[in-house]
Amino acid sequence: MNGKRALLIIGGGIAAYKACELVRLLKKEGASVRCVLTAAGHRFVTPMTLAALSEDKVYTDLFDLKDEAEMGHIQLSRQADLVVVAPATADLMAKMAQGIADDLATTLLLATDKPVLAVPAMNVRMWLHAATRRNVATLRHDGVTVLEPDEGPMACGEFGPGRLPEPEAILEAIRRALMQPANPLAGQPDFAEDATQRLENRHIIVTAGPTHEPIDPVRVIANRSSGKQGFAIAGALAAAGARVTLVAGPVSLVTPAGVTRIDVETAREMAAAVDAALPADVAILVAAVADWRVDAAPAKLKKEKGPPELNWHKNPDILAGLGQSPQRPRLLIGFAAETEKAIEHATSKRERKGCDWIVANDVSVDKMGGEENRVHLITDKGTESWERMTKHEIARKLTGKIADALA
Ligand code: CTP
Repeated sequence: MNGKRALLIIGGGIAAYKACELVRLLKKEGASVRCVLTAAGHRFVTPMTLAALSEDKVYTDLFDLKDEAEMGHIQLSRQADLVVVAPATADLMAKMAQGIADDLATTLLLATDKPVLAVPAMNVRMWLHAATRRNVATLRHDGVTVLEPDEGPMACGEFGPGRLPEPEAILEAIRRALMQPANPLAGQPDFAEDATQRLENRHIIVTAGPTHEPIDPVRVIANRSSGKQGFAIAGALAAAGARVTLVAGPVSLVTPAGVTRIDVETAREMAAAVDAALPADVAILVAAVADWRVDAAPAKLKKEKGPPELNWHKNPDILAGLGQSPQRPRLLIGFAAETEKAIEHATSKRERKGCDWIVANDVSVDKMGGEENRVHLITDKGTESWERMTKHEIARKLTGKIADALA
């Protein structure tokens, strides 16, 4: 994002603190960030914090005459490549949808001629309220990109959609938004060298998350998997222009923009969904598939009857199956979470499953479900050990390698 300029409008909400991390990440990526705090945002983060992180002046008041003389709000709204609103509160989005301009932030939003990305954060009831639904629909209709909020426990004690997405996910959306061709000729065949669209016209299948194998109507056998790494990979591939089919086990993660998601429960459903999505240029199997299933009882097993007798059956191995398939993707990539001898086990897994690359990580040191990973990429050329990085960074690095391999 070198040289790109973001204007970040920070609304009032407990999630405003995450905007600080977003500023840090944007700066780390080489972007410049200019922050605007609403009066409510001012109550949650201080201009001084944002000024220190952005290394720039922070704007707070429409009627600061000195600034009006130095730089009018029109200019401020146009000197950026992208306007980001995070957190976008229900109130701020309502004003945006109506075109109300009664403070600096909303005036900038009305005056801008640049793309706008809104990242909502609010209480779940407010997010689901008919008024907010209407406002979000209006904003999207007007061309504003409104991200879906994350789902989970909220600062107010309730549970559901409404949490601000993690700064890394916002960064990914910003990257995507900045890559939208500003030049109407970009994207035309003669201009197709755009390095950011290197996977255009490629179809890539990604599996992610765990699978759940029912024991009875209320119990399942499952693997530990948050799905974050697979979702990050799907998002990074889509950002690079690929058509992505994401086959996801039971996880409550937001679908990355531009990705087609198919939700499944069991290993057999996952295998069937992958099969149905073929042909593909690349398949990346990140899912932690349960190796075994049992004959599921039709009614809840009662504990008075003692430990249940379970009839175990082997599940299909989706990766090994693709390795043998006449429709084998040109590049087949597996993941291996190991608790010991990660490289050794993963190397033999690569041979055994007939895949081209294996991404191995040692889960005895890496907390599963965390934001970071330390992985080794095992190919026919040997092993590359990558430094510890976030799952989003791994996703982007892997995307680059895939684009190189297909070039
Ligand atoms: N995999 C799959 N289908 C399965 C099991 C695993 O597609 N039924 C894929 C995973 O998505 C991953 C790779 O195979 O890309 C390695 O998964 P892992 O669970 O480490 O391999 P296993 O064959 O189950 O080996 P083990 O449990 O003995 O370590």
